[in-house]
Amino acid sequence: MSDETPIEPTDDEAVAAEETAAASGNGSGPRRERVGVIGAGYVGLVTGVCLASMGYQVTLRDIDASKVAALNDGIVPIYEPGLTELMSEHSDRLTYTLSLERMLERSDIVFIAVDTPPTYSGDADLSRVMSVVDELEKVGADSRHVLVMKSTVPVGTGERVRAELDARGLNDVGYCSNPEFLKEGAAIADFLHPDRVVIGSFEEGQGDRVASLYAPLGAPIIRTSVPSAEMVKYASNAFLATKISFINEIANVCEEVGADVEVVSHGMGLDSRIGKSFLRAGIGFGGSCFPKDVSALKQLAGNSGYHFQLLTSVIEVNELQKRRVIGKLKKHLGGLEGKRIALLGLAFKPETDDMREASSLVLAARLLAEGAEVVAYDPIVEVSERLNGVGMSGSAEEAVTGADAAVLVTEWSSLVGLDWGAVRGLMREPVLIDGRNALDPAEMTRLGFVFEGIGRIPAHVGVAS
Ligand code: UGA
Repeated sequence: MSDETPIEPTDDEAVAAEETAAASGNGSGPRRERVGVIGAGYVGLVTGVCLASMGYQVTLRDIDASKVAALNDGIVPIYEPGLTELMSEHSDRLTYTLSLERMLERSDIVFIAVDTPPTYSGDADLSRVMSVVDELEKVGADSRHVLVMKSTVPVGTGERVRAELDARGLNDVGYCSNPEFLKEGAAIADFLHPDRVVIGSFEEGQGDRVASLYAPLGAPIIRTSVPSAEMVKYASNAFLATKISFINEIANVCEEVGADVEVVSHGMGLDSRIGKSFLRAGIGFGGSCFPKDVSALKQLAGNSGYHFQLLTSVIEVNELQKRRVIGKLKKHLGGLEGKRIALLGLAFKPETDDMREASSLVLAARLLAEGAEVVAYDPIVEVSERLNGVGMSGSAEEAVTGADAAVLVTEWSSLVGLDWGAVRGLMREPVLIDGRNALDPAEMTRLGFVFEGIGRIPAHVGVAS
C-alpha cells in the first residue's frame, strides 16, 4: 500500500472538525483534537500512523521499552505494506513514549489498542484493558479525554469499563467504542478508505468528538450504542468466517460430485445479495482475528445461555479443512513416512509475516506426525518456534528440490508466479496440491504434475475468471 495517498483534511474540514470538537462542550474553545494511542501493536500503530497522515498530532504509548526505542529510531516492528513509509513521511506528528502520563498530557482522544487474546475457554482476555483503567486512575485522566476502544472486546465490555471508570472517580472521562475493520496486508487502505466507521457512545457529545476525527475520510459513519458497536465487529468477522467455511464445504462436496468450486463461487458471487468476497475455497482461515473472534462470539452467546450452533460448525469445518490436504497427499503418495513434502508459503495469508493460527502450522505438525520430512519456504517468514522440526529453505526452488510433493499453502504472488515447469523438473515425484486454488489446473496438468486443488475438477478448462 506504499502508493496510498494519505488524506489530508481540507481547511474547511479541519475547521468543521474543530467546531464539532468545541460543540462537544468538553473543551475550552475551538481546537483540533489531539490523539493518543495506548498499545503500539498492529492496530494501534496503523491507527496512529494513519491519523497522523490525516494531520492529527498523535502520541503512541507502549509498555515495551524495546518497541518504543525501535519506533523512535524509525523502525516498524511489524510487516505491513506502506506503514514504514507513511510513518517516516509523517514523523513530525508522531511521538512514541513509555509514559502514560506524557501521552495523556499530549492528547484528547485516546484510542485503546491493547490485545485481547483468547483464554483457554475461548473468552477474550480483558486483563490488559482493565490494567489500562487501573493506570488511568493512578495517572489521572480528566474530562478532556475520551477513551475509544479499538481493541476487539466482547459485547458488554464498554459498560463494564464505564462502571470501572465511574467507580474510580473518573466519571468525566468519556468512553466510546470504535471497532477496527483492518485487514492485515491492506490495513492502511482499509483505515483511510473504510466502508464504514462505527462509533458507539454513551453520551452523544463524546461520539461527536470521535466522529469529527473521521469526518475528512468522507465514509459513512454509523452512530449507535456501545453494545451495538461492539456487536457489529463480532458479527462482521463471524459472518465472513461463515462464508469461508460454507464455500469450503461446497468445495468438499464439489470433489464428490465432479463440480468445480471456482465456477460455483463465481456464479454465486455475481448475485448481489451474496457478493463475491470471502468465497475463495482453500485450506481454511487463520490469523489473529477470525479464529479468536468466532470462538469469543460463540463463548459470549454461551455465557448468556444461547448455544450458537452455526458458529460451532464454522469452527469445526475450519479445523477439518486444514487437515484435508493430508488425505490428498496420502491418496497420491500412499503412506507419508519418509516422504519429503515441500510447503510453499507459511504465513496465514499473503503480505503478512503473521503466523498466528496459520493453516501451515497444523499441516506441518500433521505431516511430521506421519513421519514425513517437511521443508518449507515463505517469502517473509524466516523462522517460527512453532515450526519445530520443519526444515526452512532459502528459496522455493530449494524447498521443492527432491520433494515427493509440494503444497501451495499461502498464495504469495511470487509463489503463484513461479516457473512451475522448472519446479516440476526439480521434484522427485510430481504431486502438487494447491491449497488456495491459485494455480490453473489445466496448465499444471500439462506441465506433468499430478495436480489437485480444493474442490476443483483436476484439468478443468474454461473456469470463469
Ligand atoms: C480480518 C477481517 O477481514 C478484518 O475486517 C478485521 O478487521 C480483522 O480480521 C480483525 O478482526 O482485526 P485478517 O485477519 O487480516 O482480517 O485477514 P483476512 O484477509 O480477513 O483473512 C482471514 C483468513 O481467511 C486468511 O487465512 C485467508 O486466507 C482466509 N480466507 C479469506 C479464505 O480462506 N477465503 C476467502 O475467501 C477469504
